[in-house]
Amino acid sequence: MTTLGVIGLGRIGAFHVDTLSGLDGIDRLVVADERPDVVAAVAAKHGATPADSVEDLLDSGVDGVVVAAATPAHAELTLAAVHRGLPTFCEKPIAATAAESAHVATVIAKAGVPVQVGYQRRFDVAFAAAKQAVDSGALGPLHTVRSTTMDPSPPPMEYIAGSGGIFRDCAVHDFDVLRWITGQNAVEVYATGTNQGDPRFAQYGDVDTAAVVVKFDGGAMGIVSAARYNARGYDCRLEVHGFHDTVVAGWDQGVPMRNTDPHNDFPTGPYHHFFMDRFTDAFRAELAGFVSVVKGEAIPGATVADAVEVAWLAEAATESLRRGTPVRIEEVRNA
Ligand SMILES: NC(=O)c1ccc[n+]([C@@H]2O[C@H](COP(=O)([O-])OP(=O)(O)OC[C@H]3O[C@@H](n4cnc5c(N)ncnc54)[C@H](O)[C@@H]3O)[C@@H](O)[C@H]2O)c1
Repeated sequence: MTTLGVIGLGRIGAFHVDTLSGLDGIDRLVVADERPDVVAAVAAKHGATPADSVEDLLDSGVDGVVVAAATPAHAELTLAAVHRGLPTFCEKPIAATAAESAHVATVIAKAGVPVQVGYQRRFDVAFAAAKQAVDSGALGPLHTVRSTTMDPSPPPMEYIAGSGGIFRDCAVHDFDVLRWITGQNAVEVYATGTNQGDPRFAQYGDVDTAAVVVKFDGGAMGIVSAARYNARGYDCRLEVHGFHDTVVAGWDQGVPMRNTDPHNDFPTGPYHHFFMDRFTDAFRAELAGFVSVVKGEAIPGATVADAVEVAWLAEAATESLRRGTPVRIEEVRNA
């Protein structure tokens, strides 16, 4: 049996505790957060052991750690767990910036401790089937891959303030999927965006709607669309076009769209409301995978090395938005 610690009990951390408490093979959860009231509430709800501090959690005999705290704390918390030799699951992104991500990756590689990063789309059955189709060669050379992420409404503005912006916070999922599905590395990025919602997005140097064009080294073109205000629901789709065939993931009955074709009632709903209901099963599979990593029975499904490449892509997109011109990945990597 396995004991896990969960650090950070906000939106996703509390959700992960809920998921973990329903998984086989876990006999105890220890939970910590900066906010003692939240620790007490989550511990009581799930029969978890409350820790007085992160240090107490790390020294409590846990076999592995889930880091689900706010983004600025990821690097420090992950390294604290890794320094104790504890296999760690870190929510995306692994650090606030790409340079910090690269540093964290170097330290983790030297430590030789397994670390998995929270890119749950890889564990979704439809995304995984799309990946299998690409890997089988059935699509032929890929020419265009579209990845869409639209939230029904933005997270709290305090969250946005510390998020690093829409590319590091939200589009990283799309960037990870583009790299994973194509098996190619990004060469150049053009990112642009607009603000029509809360004026604080602009104050933070962020946008509430973004479009990104990514050129890959194998010839595929990636098109990312991300938005914070999409009231019909949580819209997450992947469309993969090859010379010989096309596959899509996320075009299920819950894709939040009102189809105006009078002869076609697709999609019938109910619409996906938020990432938590759309990816409930994927989060469960992702965390079950991490439990196998903790037991030494599997390797991480999304690695720190993957996360570093995604972080450079997000960095280039952020810089492209700032400059209003395309930015090469090598340029930000060597800056
Ligand atoms: N994989 C996904 O789809 C997904 C979805 C949502 C959020 N996330 C990621 O999860 C992280 C948390 O997001 P959220 O929406 O839950 O945020 P949140 O603001 O709701 O919660 C963050 C929690 O972390 C706690 N915290 C902050 N610093 C801490 C520290 N040093 N030690 C202990 N606790 C600390 C806060 O008190 C808060 O309870 C973010 O990095 C975000 O990018 C991933």
